[in-house]
Amino acid sequence: MKDIYGYEYILPTHQGRAAEQIQSEVMIKPGQFVPGNMYFTTTKIHQELAGGTFVDVIVDEAHDPVVSMDNLREVYAYCRPKGIPVLFDATRAVENAYMIQKRDARYHGTHIRDILREIMAHGDGCTVSGKKDFLINIGGLLAFKDNAEWARASEEKLRIYEGGVRDGGLPAADLAVARGVEEMLDDRYIRTRVEQAAWLADRLIEAGVPVVMPTGSHAVFIDVKRFLPHVDQDEYPAQRLASEIYLETGVRVMERGNVSKGRDANGKNYRPALELVRLTIPRRVYSNEQMRAVADGIARLYERREAIKGLRFVYEPPALRFFQGRSSPWADPPGARGRGPTPRPRRWEEGENQDLTPFQGASGGCRPLRSRAG
Ligand SMILES: Cc1ncc(COP(=O)(O)O)c(C=O)c1O
Repeated sequence: MKDIYGYEYILPTHQGRAAEQIQSEVMIKPGQFVPGNMYFTTTKIHQELAGGTFVDVIVDEAHDPVVSMDNLREVYAYCRPKGIPVLFDATRAVENAYMIQKRDARYHGTHIRDILREIMAHGDGCTVSGKKDFLINIGGLLAFKDNAEWARASEEKLRIYEGGVRDGGLPAADLAVARGVEEMLDDRYIRTRVEQAAWLADRLIEAGVPVVMPTGSHAVFIDVKRFLPHVDQDEYPAQRLASEIYLETGVRVMERGNVSKGRDANGKNYRPALELVRLTIPRRVYSNEQMRAVADGIARLYERREAIKGLRFVYEPPALRFFQGRSSPWADPPGARGRGPTPRPRRWEEGENQDLTPFQGASGGCRPLRSRAG
């Protein structure tokens, strides 16, 4: 890990958000502003819980999934002399490295391993959610380039929250991370990974579905403001489209819009500029023909998009509402889904059995395939 990232201090954690929690508690002083180029939900909440105020400094490049090497270099050259730490969420840094290799002529002949190391050189540390680039089922990483003080303070918290400072509380079987990080740096692997996302995007574009361009490296983002322009943001169009995609194709996708962004201190929805559905592709699980089935299902939804209405919350937790919130559709016109009016979901009553463990049967039953997270 030290060699791959070029960082002196490597601390394993059980998930990416555990690394974010420790990093935030160690580095943020209450009242500080924490600028970031497009938030990730768990990162933002940990920064806020540590007393910081997250500021989304979305620049145009945020619409481009690739952070160029020149941008990285310039940000660090600006911050380092001023003592402003630059910390990466490096969860998908390998995909970013591939995009740099593909797009920037200066890097066409450079291996992913070397590009990644150069990216990381333009920062002071990082967190990683291991379920992605590392090709493991669970795990995370907190790393610092050279600041022994941050590392020492983090180790103390790691002992309190996670367990061993060398394993982050993970069982040895899950420390397969060592194998995963080697594979993630294989130029052939990362090329097929990223190009599959582009292939899915091309099928959607052929069907006229509005997607964010250029396409992402791990996911395709549907621009829901253009897909469902008639649904107001406070009726959560991206969440509704995510639900419709599940009903139509059986594929779970993720809302990244008003629901994810949450509410401000006055309880008002943030109504962010981007209202997206993220089609995040698990690594090394699906063929392109399966991608085609997903695209075909979304194309069918696009054809009947005008009949799709919004949602309202029936249960809204105070934080990270996209995880456990429950919502109900505003009534669709009859026949909108091609199978009669939308049944209203029954509300989950207090005290009702909430055990979601699938029934296994005497033989252990049919278990869902375990796939790697996007
Ligand atoms: C970019 C990014 N950062 C952080 C996280 C949080 O990591 P974890 O789910 O391992 O806690 C995720 C998870 O999806 C992520 O995609």
